[in-house]
Amino acid sequence: MLQAENLSLAYQDGESIKEAVQKISLAVDDHQFIGILGPSGSGKSSLLYLLSGLRKPASGEVFLDDRAFSKMTEKERVALRRSEFGFVFQQHFLINYLTVQENVMVAAPVQDKAHTEQAKALLADLGLGDKFHRFPYQLSGGERQRVAIARAMIHRPRIIFADEPTGLLDRRTGLQVMSLLRGYCEQGSLIAVTHNPEILSEADLVITLRDGQVANMESKLKSAQIS
Ligand SMILES: Nc1ncnc2c1ncn2[C@@H]1O[C@H](COP(=O)(O)OP(=O)(O)O)[C@@H](O)[C@H]1O
Ligand SMILES: [Mg+2]
Repeated sequence: MLQAENLSLAYQDGESIKEAVQKISLAVDDHQFIGILGPSGSGKSSLLYLLSGLRKPASGEVFLDDRAFSKMTEKERVALRRSEFGFVFQQHFLINYLTVQENVMVAAPVQDKAHTEQAKALLADLGLGDKFHRFPYQLSGGERQRVAIARAMIHRPRIIFADEPTGLLDRRTGLQVMSLLRGYCEQGSLIAVTHNPEILSEADLVITLRDGQVANMESKLKSAQIS
């Protein structure tokens, strides 16, 4: 479904150039959980930005169902991200003056009754059934991250991209959040970035990065995903 070929990205850092991602290829199929592991600075977020079209690679190409990102206009890429992708970041980026339910509805394609009911059902599934009308500052860190997950799921994206989704949570809450994200693979795919191998224990494929390169790929899948 999602195919990345030879992706590279470099940042100009003062005088020097930082090769953040170097010639990485990978394929993601429906219902897969892909983990991207590596120490801080290894290029995990950069790779996620490339895979989701948030950044353009210096070289290489990303395809969604054979549609090349580079052949789309910026408007088409934005539309594609809005409809096909969901995002969960380390910081939740919830809007503090909107309620829990309103924060989820921000990402709904249509503000109708059906989506409102769906937002409520999602929040209830995520254990927030009694907190629809709270504001983000009235929630714990784990609860806020669960609202962010509901927001990422409301439009039923084909892929959820999660960048250090448990980075600010305690271990137990982090594992719960991860299990909720993992559950989404019944509907779509999940690509999660972390420096913590524990939360990737159920991943179908774990890609370990070092200095922008693939240091290791560990697959639980039958067919090779790696080119
Ligand atoms: N905007 C930027 N300008 C310059 N260097 C950057 C920028 N963003 C990231 N980098 C560098 O690129 C490398 C990879 O960064 P990043 O993808 O954020 O890694 P990770 O998510 O694994 O911590 C790091 O060395 C980082 O310092
Ligand atoms: Mg990062």
